[in-house]
Amino acid sequence: RKKIAIMTSGGDSPGMNAVVRACVRMAIHMGCDAYCVYEGYEGLVRGGDLIKKMDWYDVRGWLSEGGTLIGTARCMAFYERAGRLTAAKNMILNGIDALIICGGDGSLTGADRFRAEWPSLLDELVSTGELTAEQIHAYKHLNIVGIVGSIDNDLSGTDATVGCYSALARVCMCVDLIEATASSHSRAFVVEVMGRHCGWLALMAGVATGADFIFIPEKPREDNWREEMCNVVQEHRKLGKRKTIVIIAEGALDKFGNKISSEQVRDLLADKDGLALDTRITTLGHVQRGGTAVAYDRMLATLQGVEAVKAVLEATPETKTCFIAITENKIVRKPLMEAVLDTKEVAKAIESQDFDGAMALRDAEFSE
Ligand code: F6P
Repeated sequence: RKKIAIMTSGGDSPGMNAVVRACVRMAIHMGCDAYCVYEGYEGLVRGGDLIKKMDWYDVRGWLSEGGTLIGTARCMAFYERAGRLTAAKNMILNGIDALIICGGDGSLTGADRFRAEWPSLLDELVSTGELTAEQIHAYKHLNIVGIVGSIDNDLSGTDATVGCYSALARVCMCVDLIEATASSHSRAFVVEVMGRHCGWLALMAGVATGADFIFIPEKPREDNWREEMCNVVQEHRKLGKRKTIVIIAEGALDKFGNKISSEQVRDLLADKDGLALDTRITTLGHVQRGGTAVAYDRMLATLQGVEAVKAVLEATPETKTCFIAITENKIVRKPLMEAVLDTKEVAKAIESQDFDGAMALRDAEFSE
């Protein structure tokens, strides 16, 4: 009987529990044993109770639970070869050689490395007498499949990551709440949203709430962003708008690559010699990440979980490590490292202030 393990890693995102539920149930449906690794890579390294066999009913009700019920952690030990050696040993002692990981690009890159190193880890375990040749015999290859769980929607090659639409819904709900009080007091609000180096949440929230102005890393503002923003806001005020909403991504930059902060934007809107708006900052923070998943994320997680089990069962030593994407509404398998490298190219272009290059890469990604 094939034994498939599922784990969540990196920052949690809504829908991760639905991924775990789908993988566990699909694995059982396919006649395999399903395992959950608790606490991300930490669980692989520590083993013991953190690697647990799951039954069909263990994941009952998980669709509507927020966060990740099997825990997640940033595991320093797994960065070291010694940690990965122990992880490999724990997997073999539990009879596991197929792993589905739901996490961000960092977690999935770690998984690809683990897979590449697997044969040499096994050799070392045998040569140091930790395991015998008989013990490793049936575990020559490690099959790994990734599912991207992140609120940032920052991985190239997939239209949506599990959790991004839930976070977007939360941001929109919060902006709606803020709008009521903004309008009552005729105030301006600078709403800071998450996303790390990616502006997807800020951009989509801007579109979905009709914000007056947005700041995102991929399209930095020209040097005259101050006048530009004030003109737009003033225009809207002239049309009778009693509320001003500016959405700023936490990674927002100007065209010189300098960070634009919420405080800078607030001070400008409040400037006595300018618009003189009574202005507040609301940093939404982790409310964007916690809480239950919207229907789209539950559905995406379920479809991707099912596909991940199929992919892990069909993988051969020759196939590249893949992740499950959604492209033009189809659930597809894609090579993991290509997507990770494309994502890094965008980040690199932004870092080196090649903003046209970054936009071209993102455009190419959307028209893929
Ligand atoms: O990647 C998800 C994310 O929520 C980012 O949007 C944010 O920058 C980061 O994680 C926050 O990380 P932490 O929860 O470790 O503060």
